[in-house]
Amino acid sequence: MAGLSSVVKLATSLVCLILVAAWTASAALVHHKFTIGTQNVTRVCNTQTIVTVNGQFPGPTIEVREGDNLVVEVDNNGPYNVTIHWHGVKQLKSCWADGPAYITQCPITPGNKFTYKFTITGQEGTLWWHAHISYLRATVHGALVIKPRAGKAYPFPKPDAEIPIILGEWWNANVEDVIADAIKTGTVPANSDAYTINGQPGDFFNCSANDTSHISVKSGKRYLLRIVHAGMLHGSFFKIAQHKMTVVAVDAVYTKPYTTDVLLIQPGNTMDVLITADQKLGQYYIGTRVYNSQPGRTEYLNTTTTAILEYKGNDKTYIASAPLLPNFPAYDDTATAFKFSTALRSLRSSVPQTVDEEMFITEGFGLVPCMDNSCTDNNGVRPVGSLNNISFVDPEISILQAYYNGTNGVFTRDFPSNPPQAFNYTGNVPLSLWTPELGTKVKVLKFNSTVQIVFQNTAIITLQNHPIHLHGHDVYLVGQGFGNYNSQTDPANFNLVNPQTLNTVGVPTGGWAAIRFVANNPGVWLMHCHFESHSALGFAMVFLTEDGPRNSDKLPPPPSDLPKC
Ligand code: C2O
Repeated sequence: MAGLSSVVKLATSLVCLILVAAWTASAALVHHKFTIGTQNVTRVCNTQTIVTVNGQFPGPTIEVREGDNLVVEVDNNGPYNVTIHWHGVKQLKSCWADGPAYITQCPITPGNKFTYKFTITGQEGTLWWHAHISYLRATVHGALVIKPRAGKAYPFPKPDAEIPIILGEWWNANVEDVIADAIKTGTVPANSDAYTINGQPGDFFNCSANDTSHISVKSGKRYLLRIVHAGMLHGSFFKIAQHKMTVVAVDAVYTKPYTTDVLLIQPGNTMDVLITADQKLGQYYIGTRVYNSQPGRTEYLNTTTTAILEYKGNDKTYIASAPLLPNFPAYDDTATAFKFSTALRSLRSSVPQTVDEEMFITEGFGLVPCMDNSCTDNNGVRPVGSLNNISFVDPEISILQAYYNGTNGVFTRDFPSNPPQAFNYTGNVPLSLWTPELGTKVKVLKFNSTVQIVFQNTAIITLQNHPIHLHGHDVYLVGQGFGNYNSQTDPANFNLVNPQTLNTVGVPTGGWAAIRFVANNPGVWLMHCHFESHSALGFAMVFLTEDGPRNSDKLPPPPSDLPKC
C-alpha cells in the first residue's frame, strides 16, 4: 500500500509540475479599467482641473509579461473626446487598437467606452501609454512595464528593485486651451510652467519643495530605473549626482550595456538604466534639464527639475544631508546629445540588408496662410510642421476605417518619397521654399517591404532636433550626421550590424538620420514629431501597409465596439 501511495504522490506531483510549466509558459490575460475623469491638481502654486485616468497624475503603471494579452476598458467620463495610444507597442495585426485619433479610430466621446485588446509580442522593457488627441497627453499618460516571460531572465544583472520615473510637463492653464489658442492665433503653443519627475517639479520650483518625489534606495543594492519621457516639447538631459547609469534598454529593445553619467532622453523615448547605490549614505538629486537644440533660442524653461535619491540605512543609519546637485551639460550642448545618441547599440539585431523603398524626407517647419483673420499680427501666416513640403491635415473620419470600408475622399495616396526639389537644406533657405502644401497624404507600402528613410532637418524658420516617432514598428537607426545628407558618401558609414533600435528617433539639429524598418504589419501607421505642438501643427504623415498574401498576414476586421465618427 505504501508503495502505491508513493506512486500516486509521484504521479500527482508530476502532473502538478507539468501544469505549472504549462501555466508559466502560456500567456496571461491582463485586464485594466481606465476611467477618464477630471481632477483638481495643484502644482507651482496654481490649481488646474486636469484630465486624468483613475484620478491619478501621472496615470497608473500597467505591468505585463512578454506574450500577455492586454485588455484595457476605457470609460470616458471626462469632458473631452479621448483615445489612448500604446506608445511603442508593435500591435501585430491589431492596428485597430493603436489609438491615434482620426488615424486608426474615431475618438471615444464623453459618456462612451471602448476596449483596447492586443498582445505584447517580442518586446521587453519599458513602453508607455498616452492620450492621442489634441493636447490631452500632457496629463493622460503612464508607464507600460513589460517583463520577460515567467522563468526567463533579464540579459543583465538582476536588479534588487525597479523604479518607474516619468518625466512630464505642467501648465498653469488648461492644456486644451493652450493648443486651441495657438491654432486660433496662428502661433506656437505657450511653453509649460514646470517640468516634473513623477508628477512633481522638485525643490527649485515655487511652492514645490514639500512635495518633491523621494526615491529610497538601500546601500549596496542595484536598481532598474524605468524612465519614460512623457514631456511635450523638449528633450532632456538626465543625471543623478555622483552616480553612474548603465543603459540596458531603450524603447523596449535591449542595448549593449552603456555606462554614462548623462542621458539624453526625447519625448517618446523610454530608457531602462541600472544604478548601484554605491555612494555614502545621504541624498542625491536626480535632475533633468532642457536640451535646447534651436540655435539662438532663449525662451525656454531653464530651471532644473529634481527628485531625491535617498539612501535608507538598514535601521537608524540614515543621514540627513543637503542633497548634492549634478553638473549639467550646457542647455545647447549638442555635442553631448550627439555623443549619447550615437553611442548606443542594440544587443540583438536583424537589420534589413537590402531596401525596397527608399525615401528622403525633409523635416521641419513652414509658413502657410492663416485659416481666418485671427493671425494678422503675423503678416497673415502661421507656422506649421512639414514633411517633404506637406503639412498633414487630420481627416474627419479615421484613415484606417476609410481604407477598410473603401470610403473615398478621406486621404490621398500620394505622399512623396522625395521633396519637390533639392536645396541647401541646412543653409539659408530661400523664402520661396517656405510654404508647404496642406494635405492628408499617405505612403502605401507593400507587405514585408523593407524601407529606408533619410530624415533631413531643414533650416526653414529654425533648425531643431525633432524626435520622430513611427507607430507600430521598431526602426533601426543606421546612421546620422550634421549638415546635408550625402547619398554618395554617407551610406558607406551605415551600421547594418547592431544599430540602436527605437520607436522614436531624434534627428540631429541641422543634420540627418537614416532609419530602416520592415513593413511587416498591415494597417495604417502614423509617423510624427513627438513634440506635441509640432505634430498638432501638421508635422506628421501616414504609412498604409497592405495586407500580405496569406490569411495570417491580413489585418482582422475592426472590433465591434470601435467608436464611430
Ligand atoms: Cu507617443 Cu503618436 O505617439
